[in-house]
Amino acid sequence: MTSTTSSSVDVIDPSTITFEQYTDEDTQLPLITAIIDRELSEPYSVFTYRYFLNNWPELCFLAMSGERECVGVIVCKLDKHREMFRGYIGMLVVDKRARKAKLGSALVTRALEVMRDAGADECTLEAETTNEGALRLYQSLGFIRDKRLCRYYLSGTDAYRLKLLFPLPPQAADALGQAQGQ
Ligand SMILES: CC(C)(COP(=O)(O)OP(=O)(O)OC[C@H]1O[C@@H](n2cnc3c(N)ncnc32)[C@H](O)[C@@H]1OP(=O)(O)O)[C@@H](O)C(=O)NCCC(=O)NCCS
Repeated sequence: MTSTTSSSVDVIDPSTITFEQYTDEDTQLPLITAIIDRELSEPYSVFTYRYFLNNWPELCFLAMSGERECVGVIVCKLDKHREMFRGYIGMLVVDKRARKAKLGSALVTRALEVMRDAGADECTLEAETTNEGALRLYQSLGFIRDKRLCRYYLSGTDAYRLKLLFPLPPQAADALGQAQGQ
């Protein structure tokens, strides 16, 4: 995943945000593509969205605010990889007005909970080596840097492959407990 940058404007009150799982292409896919197209620089086709969402709807969560505005989303999958049952975070985005209020962490912990309950051995993703926010978020949940992938993105930027092994490390388990209490 690659991100775009710009300055933030107003702020969304985190206490107004609710979470919903993906269930419906007509009402939710346009919300998901809108926020991801706005916040991530790497383009995704509708086929990529459908691959994730139709196969693993239970691994997509939307954070909603106000009159059905999507202010955060996570899109993941879970399948066999060699001998492992591997969760994979394909997309994670939080609206600039809602950042640094633990919304990204809350979306990740919800997805990790579903992966854990489905018996996943591990969860992985790629993040730009320059994406301080994402690296900090995943590190704080217990992900480690598994590999550096040279010129991984279309832009030519390197990526880190980040990995978390189940059972959840204490940081992620604590975050999950907090998310469940909300
Ligand atoms: C990365 C992103 C999802 C983080 O969302 P968020 O809701 O702001 O993250 P959180 O509030 O849960 O932050 C988690 C931790 O990361 C830190 N963090 C978040 N953004 C940061 C930034 N830009 N710089 C430094 N630290 C940051 C927080 O301070 C927090 O640290 P803590 O656990 O020590 O308190 C969001 O910035 C975003 O959507 N970026 C654009 C898309 C993107 O890069 N997606 C990830 C691709 S791998």
